[in-house]
Amino acid sequence: MATPELFIGASVSLQTLLKEAARAAPTDATVVITGESGVGKSLLARWLHEHSRRAAGPFVVIDCGSLPEPLLEAELFGYERGAFTGATAAKAGRFEAARHGTLVLDEVAALSPAAQTKLLRVIEERRVLRLGGIRSLTLDVRFIAVTNTDLTAAVARRAFRADLFHRLNVIALDVPPLRDRADDIPLLAQHFVGLAAQRNHLPLPTLEAETVAFLKQYDFPGNVRELQHAMEHAVLAAADGRIRREHLPSRMTSAAALIRHTVRKPTLAELEAAYIWEILQHVGWRKAEAARILGISRKNLYEKLRAYGIPYHPTTDASPAEPST
Ligand SMILES: Nc1ncnc2c1ncn2[C@@H]1O[C@H](COP(=O)(O)OP(=O)(O)OP(=O)(O)O)[C@@H](O)[C@H]1O
Ligand SMILES: [Mg+2]
Repeated sequence: MATPELFIGASVSLQTLLKEAARAAPTDATVVITGESGVGKSLLARWLHEHSRRAAGPFVVIDCGSLPEPLLEAELFGYERGAFTGATAAKAGRFEAARHGTLVLDEVAALSPAAQTKLLRVIEERRVLRLGGIRSLTLDVRFIAVTNTDLTAAVARRAFRADLFHRLNVIALDVPPLRDRADDIPLLAQHFVGLAAQRNHLPLPTLEAETVAFLKQYDFPGNVRELQHAMEHAVLAAADGRIRREHLPSRMTSAAALIRHTVRKPTLAELEAAYIWEILQHVGWRKAEAARILGISRKNLYEKLRAYGIPYHPTTDASPAEPST
């Protein structure tokens, strides 16, 4: 068996979540996992499977948002030969493929009303019948539903069946956004630096304290996935093996980002320093050009560089393209 995924977290809220998850894992109870995009919902679903008595069985993920309606039924239930035009051979569906394992319904809120009705029947009867089939099969699977839209609100607007919601929502696990658990940031950042260094065959760089301090007050609209991408970027940008704040993607450190995405709002001096840095990067560290854009003299620019501890020359050889988050 593959090594279980690491679910990293030192914060009180994540430890509480993991305790609840550990209690839920060995049971067959249906679980609903909620949380913003990139918080770790898919990872938690896998963690539950790996810590269940079904760990040796299949782990099947159905992306409910991406399956077009006409295909959905055939995909989920499978079909017998001749069930419809083009069904030249029998095929097992995903429900069957997940027997004795875990079936994850990702983006469950995207299911159409018709698909919700069919899913409800399967969960209640614990049996599936292939399209065009005669004999139904008992379905021994553990269901996990994942969503980043509020299912209770969807039920209130009648976009999601209340009876299906109650069937699914036996155990509810909500993964909190990263900005609400800043204590997890240092560990996660270090973890992702290690992974990125390994993947790129680079020696392990040091994560400077100023970088960690910066990350701890950033609000991470893209949650853990954004942190992961930022560390990948930083590992490649830090040519001397020391990850400083300037190695983070500029969309996190720009003056505009400081205004919009920090938990603690920046001072004027911090904004000025960030803006000077941004302009220097923009003009490839040509001081005369930067001074012209900033509307100050070169002498004044040099004074500010000294005052803010900004290097006179770029500290990286190459700034890799930023991955899109
Ligand atoms: N606590 C954690 N420890 C280690 N890695 C994590 C943790 N949380 C998330 N990750 C990693 O961050 C990335 C994003 O997590 P994941 O894909 O589970 O998020 P998600 O909530 O399912 O996002 P989406 O809503 O876009 O589907 C993955 O690479 C995952 O392995
Ligand atoms: Mg996911």
